[in-house]
Amino acid sequence: MKAIVITRPGGPEVLQLQERPRPVPAAHEVLIKVKAIGLNRSDLGLREGKYGGALVNGVVPGLEVAGEVVEVGASAPRWGVGDQVCALLTDGAYAEYAAIDARHCLPVPAGWSLEEAASLPETTFTVWSNVFQMAALQPSETVLVHGGSSGIGLTLIQIATALGNKVLATAGTADKCRDCEKFGAARCVNYKEEDFEQAFKEEKINVILDMVGGDYTAKNLRLLAPDGRLQYINAMNGPKVELSLLDIMTKRLRLSGSMLRPRSAEFKAALAAEVEKHVWPLAASGQLKPVIYKTFPLAEAAKAQELMASSEHIGKILLVNEG
Ligand SMILES: NC(=O)c1ccc[n+]([C@@H]2O[C@H](COP(=O)([O-])OP(=O)(O)OC[C@H]3O[C@@H](n4cnc5c(N)ncnc54)[C@H](OP(=O)(O)O)[C@@H]3O)[C@@H](O)[C@H]2O)c1
Repeated sequence: MKAIVITRPGGPEVLQLQERPRPVPAAHEVLIKVKAIGLNRSDLGLREGKYGGALVNGVVPGLEVAGEVVEVGASAPRWGVGDQVCALLTDGAYAEYAAIDARHCLPVPAGWSLEEAASLPETTFTVWSNVFQMAALQPSETVLVHGGSSGIGLTLIQIATALGNKVLATAGTADKCRDCEKFGAARCVNYKEEDFEQAFKEEKINVILDMVGGDYTAKNLRLLAPDGRLQYINAMNGPKVELSLLDIMTKRLRLSGSMLRPRSAEFKAALAAEVEKHVWPLAASGQLKPVIYKTFPLAEAAKAQELMASSEHIGKILLVNEG
C-alpha cells in the first residue's frame, strides 16, 4: 500500500510517499481501507521532531481516519466487513490501510459522508474529555475557547451551543470570527485587533479551553469567574508562564490540561463510548456539522501540512485516497 512516511525530522519536504506492507490486524483490531484522513496541528510537531527527534524516522503520521472495514480480528465482534467507520489512531493514518483497535472506531454518523467523518475523532474526543469531563462544563455555564476557528474550536463551539452553553471565542481574522459566530459563538473577538481581556471583562466565564498559553495565562486567570476552570491542550505561545497565585486562591480556580495521543488504549476506548453516547446524536441531528476547509490527495500531504502551518484555514483539512 501507499503511505506517507516521515523520513527525518524537518519541514514538509521530509514527508515522502512510499510503498509499505499492508498492516495485518491483531485479534482486537479491524483493518480499514482508508478513504479520508483528518490533519491535526500535532502532525506538524511530530514531523518537526518536537515529540522525540530521530524516533520519528520512518513513522507514518496521522491520528484519525474514516473508511470501510475490510478485515475483522477474532475479538472485534462489533464490526463486520463493509461497515463504514471513523477512528482514532496513535499514528499510521496517512496511508491506504490502517489496523485500528476496534474500540477506537465509531460508526459514520447518519447524514455524514465518509470524508466528512474523518474530521470527527480527534476533535470530538479532545473536546469531550477536556471540556465536559475534566473541566466539567455545566449546562448553565459560559465557556471561552481560544483558537475558535481551529478544528477543535469549531467543534467545541457547536457541541457546547447545542448543549445550551454560552460560547465565547477568539480568532485571528474577521472571517474566522464571523464563522465562529455562524456556528454558534455568542461573540468572537479578533485578538489581533482587540484585547480579549478588555472585550470579555463583563462576561461571567466559567471554563476556558486554551491552546495558546504564554501571555494568555494571566489574562485567562483574571477573566475567570469564581470556581472557574482553565484547561490546556497546547501552549503555542510558550509553556513557561507568569501567573498570580492570588487569582487562583481568591477565586478558587482550577488549572489542568491533557494530551490525548499518549493516553492508554483503555482510556481511549472508554472515551469513545462517551463520545458516541453524547456527541454522535448531535452529529446525526445536524447540530454538529462538518467544517471542511480543503481536501488534498494523500500524495500531497506536504502541501496540506503547509496550509495548516499558514493558519489560513477555518475548520479541518483532509487527505483523501482516490478510488
Ligand atoms: N492536547 C491534546 O490532546 C490536543 C488534541 C488535539 C489538538 N490539540 C491542540 O489544539 C489546537 C487546535 O488543534 P487543531 O488541529 O484544531 O489546529 P488548527 O486547525 O491548526 O488551528 C490552530 C489555530 O490556532 C490559532 N493560533 C492561535 N495562536 C497561535 C499560535 N501562536 N501559533 C499558531 N496558531 C495559533 C490559529 O488561528 P488564529 O491565530 O488565526 O486564530 C490556528 O489556525 C492545536 O494547538 C493542537 O495542538 C491538542
